Amino acid sequence: MRKKILITGSNGLLGQKLVYRLLPQSDVEVIATSKGQNRLKHQAGYIYEAMDVTDEQAVKDILLKHKPDVVINTAAMTNVDACETEREACRKLNVDAVEYLINTMKILPGSPHLIHLSTDFIFDGKNGPYRETDIPYPPNSVYAESKYVSEKLVEKSGLKWTIIRTVLVYGVVDFMSRSNIVLWAKDSLSKGKSINVVDDQFRTPTLSEDLAEACVLAAMKGATGVFHISGKDFMSIIELVNIVADFWHFDKSLIHPAKTATLGQPAQRPLRTGFILDKAINELSYKPHSFLEGLEIVDKQLKSDA
Ligand SMILES: NC(=O)c1ccc[n+]([C@@H]2O[C@H](COP(=O)([O-])OP(=O)(O)OC[C@H]3O[C@@H](n4cnc5c(N)ncnc54)[C@H](OP(=O)(O)O)[C@@H]3O)[C@@H](O)[C@H]2O)c1
Repeated sequence: MRKKILITGSNGLLGQKLVYRLLPQSDVEVIATSKGQNRLKHQAGYIYEAMDVTDEQAVKDILLKHKPDVVINTAAMTNVDACETEREACRKLNVDAVEYLINTMKILPGSPHLIHLSTDFIFDGKNGPYRETDIPYPPNSVYAESKYVSEKLVEKSGLKWTIIRTVLVYGVVDFMSRSNIVLWAKDSLSKGKSINVVDDQFRTPTLSEDLAEACVLAAMKGATGVFHISGKDFMSIIELVNIVADFWHFDKSLIHPAKTATLGQPAQRPLRTGFILDKAINELSYKPHSFLEGLEIVDKQLKSDA
């Protein structure tokens, strides 16, 4: 029997990586779902359904039609500043939609497995890098609060569940709706633009392929509970951007250090997050790439797309 895996938000960074990662796997049937049309270049070998996760009836109809064994919920309002100013939209997508998925999964046959994506932003950023046993409170933005609440819904859903928290994801996908730190830095520096980059935020940046691999490992092993998934290299954002500049041979004098507090962004950012990966390495056999290996993978993909 092939495992049916339904992905929400399949047009997104993680969603696309998941579809491409699972496609060659003959023991898996992929049902990709996202809002609107399928934006992946390759559209064969899997089913695509337009599914807006904030539409309760649509969620019910599609899940009951396909009866997935696993749902990987990547759909989310991921722009943290937009969440701050559009609170209602953030709640609908990051909280209510999770409730719709849970309610429908409860009436599916068998014991369907919900794999839900969450964030390092649920930590206050005072003591990173964090383990799964650290207390995720208090979240300090609307986005973080919405993700924290969604985690609680998943934990008490009564379903078989996994929460995968991740950190600053980077990578290349088809027709991207938003950029990420690596592509933003590369693009700005390649155009000779001066950039202000924070030197007081610390992260373990995550290659999107690594995150997809961890989701697949959890799905195939039926691993449950909370997992911290990120890259293994801990660095400040300005260090990260300097590594990007070195990698593509850009002028590092364009990079200017800044403090988070001076940027005036609507949403607060936790300063020091990043993850300790021991649990994922031991229980999922998760093997993250180094940040430099990640850049090599991104570089190859950019060249093959050109
Ligand atoms: N990226 C990060 O740095 C990061 C860090 C920590 C945690 N996470 C979490 O990881 C998960 C995946 O993130 P990501 O980077 O892959 O995000 P992403 O690239 O923004 O992808 C999210 C996808 O959800 C889709 N979507 C938006 N509204 C929808 C709706 N109403 N119904 C169905 N789909 C909808 C978006 O569609 P459009 O493309 O059409 O807008 C987008 O394709 C999220 O839960 C996020 O909170 C991400």
